[in-house]
Amino acid sequence: MALWGGRFTGQTSDLFKEFNDSLPVDYRMAEQDIVGSVAWSRALASVNVLTADEQQKLEAALNALLAEVKADPSIVLQSDAEDIHSWVEGKLIEAVGDLGKKLHTGRSRNDQVATDLKLWCRQQGEGLSALLAQLVEALVALAEREQDTVLPGYTHLQRAQPVTFAHWCLAYVEMFERDRKRLNNALELMNTSPLGCGALAGTAYAIDREALAKDLGFAAATRNSLDSVSDRDHVLELLSVASISSVHLSRMAEDIIFYNTGEAGFLEMDDQVTSGSSLMPQKKNPDAMELIRGKCGRVVGSLTGMMVTMKALPLAYNKDMQEDKEGLFDTVDTWSICLKMAILCVEGIKVNAERTYQAAQQGYSNATELADYLVAKGIPFREAHHIVGRAVVGAIEAGQPLEDLPIETLKTFSEQIDDDVYQHLTIEACLEKRVAQGGTSKEQVKAALAVYKK
Ligand code: ARG
Repeated sequence: MALWGGRFTGQTSDLFKEFNDSLPVDYRMAEQDIVGSVAWSRALASVNVLTADEQQKLEAALNALLAEVKADPSIVLQSDAEDIHSWVEGKLIEAVGDLGKKLHTGRSRNDQVATDLKLWCRQQGEGLSALLAQLVEALVALAEREQDTVLPGYTHLQRAQPVTFAHWCLAYVEMFERDRKRLNNALELMNTSPLGCGALAGTAYAIDREALAKDLGFAAATRNSLDSVSDRDHVLELLSVASISSVHLSRMAEDIIFYNTGEAGFLEMDDQVTSGSSLMPQKKNPDAMELIRGKCGRVVGSLTGMMVTMKALPLAYNKDMQEDKEGLFDTVDTWSICLKMAILCVEGIKVNAERTYQAAQQGYSNATELADYLVAKGIPFREAHHIVGRAVVGAIEAGQPLEDLPIETLKTFSEQIDDDVYQHLTIEACLEKRVAQGGTSKEQVKAALAVYKK
């Protein structure tokens, strides 16, 4: 039975019912709706709308319903209730009769849905934060294993300067750590309870909303009823954090896909996260990474969708807001499975240190070192840069890396180049010179690892 039948004499069309009902989506908030209802029953008892006995009966029935839902969440879907709020109320009335009809006193589905959704976001956020921490852990473990592995560092996808594989891992650690902090900030900001704001103007019962908020585990009650029932910032924030994090996941996936190519051969992904081709027997495709890269599109799409849904909505509640859940739920599910997949993939990465070393040796990625060498000999950097540019052209023509050119040849580019140049051109020398904070030298990478192992 609809919650609002009295005002109507005509029938609702089936199409409208299908269009308007949100149960197929918001059934996922059953637990939050019941928990919120228990707290509301206590608030009603505190202002003598319910007797202590009535409140206890309602609470017991709601808890029984909660146990039923937890045992089998699909029972909610076997109903034609309009939404999760109608479903819970209907079940309560079924269980305790007329007493159940008292629960909605002073409450609206508008403050109810806002409360349910915040509770849901909070619960999911905690799980996601833990997954981000696990991914960071997996990357730190890989970094520890690959501290001595050299990797060509790229800009413009051209070999630029050598780095260590650990340094690459820790770059993503930084990103996922920021995501975790962003998520925690968002969770903190949404930690206020809208319950007791009624439909829009506030509730007509002198309920202690702060106590009610604490009962639900919120830090405080919201301050303005109009804002409380129409605020979906927490949805936008979760979608934003998820989008930024998905971009990070997608970038990492892209790096791994490239490192895993036959051309690069820097690493191999584990069999358990790759798949074959139905036609080409030799193939082992990085599907997991491609899907992580691909799903990012849907997550960012949901953020865009919700931004546009909220734009220009007048105060206070509008049914448009019912559209908040589909994209949010899908985003949380997608982000969560992508994080789990990324953890599994990172754990199974086998790096081919010989290949990465060879690749770092090619591509003239020690050219900056030669320029720095000339700077140390008193040549201004801009001039040194030009000299080395010409030396690289010479080396390309000779088909050799810089460090294999004989000293006589090197001297044709600058008289200042002496025999001691060769010790500056090794990969080890390139790496070890990056000693300032944040650089790729072993010492700096060790220091960064120490921070994360804490
Ligand atoms: N299903 C609705 C939603 O998700 C609940 C709130 C309905 N409120 C109303 N006044 N129709 O937004």
